Amino acid sequence: MGLQQNSFLKMEQLIKEYPPLRGFLENMNLPLDKITLLPEEYFRSLDSFVLEETGLGRVELQDLFQSYLQHLQMIKEDQGSIGSLTLWGGQDKAGKPEEVHLHIQRGEIVCLVGPTGSGKSRLLEDIEWLAQQDTVTRRKVTIDGNVPREELRFSSGRKLVAQLSQNMNFVMDVTVYEFLKMHAESRLMKNIEELVDIVVEQANLLTGESFGKDVPVTSLSGGQSRALMIADTAALSVAPVVLIDEIENAGINRSKALELLVSRDKIVFIATHDPILALMGHKRLVMKNGGMIKVLERSEKELEALEKLQMIDRKINEARQLLREGAKLESLF
Ligand SMILES: Nc1ncnc2c1ncn2[C@@H]1O[C@H](COP(=O)(O)OP(=O)(O)OP(=O)(O)O)[C@@H](O)[C@H]1O
Ligand SMILES: [Mg+2]
Repeated sequence: MGLQQNSFLKMEQLIKEYPPLRGFLENMNLPLDKITLLPEEYFRSLDSFVLEETGLGRVELQDLFQSYLQHLQMIKEDQGSIGSLTLWGGQDKAGKPEEVHLHIQRGEIVCLVGPTGSGKSRLLEDIEWLAQQDTVTRRKVTIDGNVPREELRFSSGRKLVAQLSQNMNFVMDVTVYEFLKMHAESRLMKNIEELVDIVVEQANLLTGESFGKDVPVTSLSGGQSRALMIADTAALSVAPVVLIDEIENAGINRSKALELLVSRDKIVFIATHDPILALMGHKRLVMKNGGMIKVLERSEKELEALEKLQMIDRKINEARQLLREGAKLESLF
């Protein structure tokens, strides 16, 4: 439901659609017997005694209600209304039209491959921005076949897309627990204590060096903070689309990280030069000179190749671990 239509909905219809609104009225000691009115009429009908109890003016109170409603709408929208995303071709660096378009379903991973400078990061930006032929590439994004609404593009939240950036610079000096609790609360989640434990546990599955929830986020290593952000995105983010620009050197278990994200039914885009990550994608978008060249579907044969590469990767990790411990590598094979 679009934001515009709501002015025609009565309070009781809004409450039916967004049950937390009832809690809002109750918390504010606002009457529940007048909910057959439209919001405007409802707030106009409140007498001064009721208003005084809330400590707010009529207009302020209605504004607060409206922004809470908008927040609930955004969350609802983000939680699962996306089935697919399509990226329509624009032009490459030379201005040559792209013949290719990319269609991706919920729960799928797309890997972007191509030489350095071929436009992988640029393409991720187009998606983050939900481009409408208004970026240098002239590409266009549609969601479930439609042009996304303006609010989704320009609202400060832009919660449709979560970007896992390469460098995590924690600016606040809070503990892992406080950090996750803030995220969970701002997303109106319940069972916060349990959620925090799950996220920390999952993050620790991704990184070799585990950490507890009472350490300050600023003390985490690069790999640990990366793992925390991935687990946080998988469990606490309502954004259905996740963008990742290269996680190969982050010192985390890449396969597990991707599995975690995809198991939450998200659409994942990942730009990579890493063959294992590239083969983990259901689809592979090949980039050249700033343009989309072709979309490859992963084949059965490639899945077999992936298994072999993962075995080699495990060996390399084992060797790395032995080296760290100061052991000899004679028993590796
Ligand atoms: N279609 C395009 N039209 C114009 N400029 C483009 C286009 N695609 C990419 N560019 C520009 O080309 C430059 C290199 O692109 P980008 O950084 O996306 O490459 P990359 O594939 O991510 O490289 P790397 O593998 O090194 O990270 C950027 O400045 C980007 O804005
Ligand atoms: Mg790049």
